[in-house]
Amino acid sequence: MNTLLKDGYAIRRATLFDLRAVYRLERVIFPRDAYPYLDLALLFLTPRVINRKIVAPDGALVGFVCAVLGARQDRGWIVTIGIDPAHQRRGLGQALLAHAEERIGRTHIRLTVREGNHPAIRLYARTGYTTIERKIGYYRDGETGLVMEKHMNPAQN
Ligand SMILES: CC(C)(COP(=O)(O)OP(=O)(O)OC[C@H]1O[C@@H](n2cnc3c(N)ncnc32)[C@H](O)[C@@H]1OP(=O)(O)O)[C@@H](O)C(=O)NCCC(=O)NCCS
Repeated sequence: MNTLLKDGYAIRRATLFDLRAVYRLERVIFPRDAYPYLDLALLFLTPRVINRKIVAPDGALVGFVCAVLGARQDRGWIVTIGIDPAHQRRGLGQALLAHAEERIGRTHIRLTVREGNHPAIRLYARTGYTTIERKIGYYRDGETGLVMEKHMNPAQN
């Protein structure tokens, strides 16, 4: 499975072979919240988890999304999504998010984002997410987390 994007980027399934590259990327884009190596490894080994990467024309992994289907049939969660800073603002984050939503294939999609993460909140808001809950002190450093949800158009499932 290989979804081609513009400028030679592609979305592909991410596997345990990508663990090191994903770990490196997570540490760059989430200096405060990067998943520990073992937690990331578990994401690759757990059933009902969707892992996708963006590969640059030179083969480097420059983006990653992980989504969990969970037990409820009507809902999926975006667990983590990120694009290498050197490749941001080219539409890759939006493309990866849309790809994950399609793979999740459920009517509701949720995620949690730091209240101060304006770039991500802007991306989510413009693609149909609204804030449904504020979790005060959700993050380790005390920052509030916003739970955002998108109702998928049935035609998109
Ligand atoms: C959020 C993130 C995934 C966006 O990826 P991206 O590839 O740069 O985003 P896109 O190019 O697809 O941008 C789509 C839209 O999102 C919004 N957006 C993205 N980055 C933005 C920024 N730095 N400032 C303001 N708006 C931004 C804009 O509306 C943008 O559309 P535009 O470029 O036409 O204005 C990326 O900034 C990232 O990896 N951030 C660090 C990790 C993170 O915060 N992940 C989300 C955790 S919940």
